[in-house]
Amino acid sequence: MTEAPIADTREIIGGLLRPVACIAPKYFYDARGSLLFEEITRLPEYYPTRTERAIMLEHGAEIAGKVGAGSTVIEMGAGSCEKARDLCELIRPAHFVAIDISAEFLHQAADGLRAAFPDLDIRVLAADLTADMSMPSDLSPRHRLVFYPGSSIGNFDPPQALSLLSRFRRLLGEDGTLLIGVDLLKDAAVLEAAYDDAAGVTAAFNLNVLNHVNRLIDSDFDPGQWRHRAIFNALDSRVEMHLEATLDIQVSWPGAGRRFLRGERIHTENSYKYRIEDFADTLGHAGFRHTDVWTDAARWFAVILARP
Ligand SMILES: C[S@@+](CC[C@H](N)C(=O)[O-])C[C@H]1O[C@@H](n2cnc3c(N)ncnc32)[C@H](O)[C@@H]1O
Repeated sequence: MTEAPIADTREIIGGLLRPVACIAPKYFYDARGSLLFEEITRLPEYYPTRTERAIMLEHGAEIAGKVGAGSTVIEMGAGSCEKARDLCELIRPAHFVAIDISAEFLHQAADGLRAAFPDLDIRVLAADLTADMSMPSDLSPRHRLVFYPGSSIGNFDPPQALSLLSRFRRLLGEDGTLLIGVDLLKDAAVLEAAYDDAAGVTAAFNLNVLNHVNRLIDSDFDPGQWRHRAIFNALDSRVEMHLEATLDIQVSWPGAGRRFLRGERIHTENSYKYRIEDFADTLGHAGFRHTDVWTDAARWFAVILARP
């Protein structure tokens, strides 16, 4: 029994049959994948979560002053809603819309948020943020804040990132604000360690995508036959995650399949690392002015507030 609508099945199989096979990173996030990601955020090597949080807390009063109270926060890829807690403390919105593809995990996280903020109007949208999605019709189009933390924007290649930011821009109208976390270019050793931790949690997260794909397309991947690889590609300024076949493997799904030779890889994720000026250019092309940029002292991560 498969869980995926037909378009997802086609997308996954299409990716697996490419000369260099790929699986889109959104398929990491079944319930186990979401839990493993939460574990990743607490690893010593994984600096983005704690660095972004520290920046937001240090500059919280300034951010709150610029956004103002009573807004409608729309968080893209809200996950555990942990960062939403800090943000809601800071800016006291009237409405909060949590969007994520990992439905079960999102509903649980939203329940936690409701308990912490009983007066906040909290809505949940289990949706793919790259697909067309509409906001609840009773929500005002005024005074919106799109919150996109965690450098999730880095999972999209530059043209896709531009198109996503342009969609956020349209969602915001003329008086909205974008608050976005962006991971910055840094030493390759720091980057590769963040995506290949000593405890093997990122490896488990990467390998788990095969279990999810098995359920979605009824395939017979054995995660034990694959190994996790994380490589910084300096030319394209991105950390790449791959799964590498440890032997010759025949994988099958209804009606078809593919043979992978030992050493052959499936590309599962890109995480683009930006220079602030390059990201500001992208924001400009998407119709934003980058009004404020906050970073940590080492300039490893940036929190950017941008307006149309
Ligand atoms: C890297 S995690 C970031 C989670 C959290 N926002 C943070 O900053 O720690 C990416 C989140 O986006 C969600 N996600 C990934 N691709 C998505 C998509 N195409 N549509 C909606 N949510 C997506 C995942 O389920 C996950 O919760």
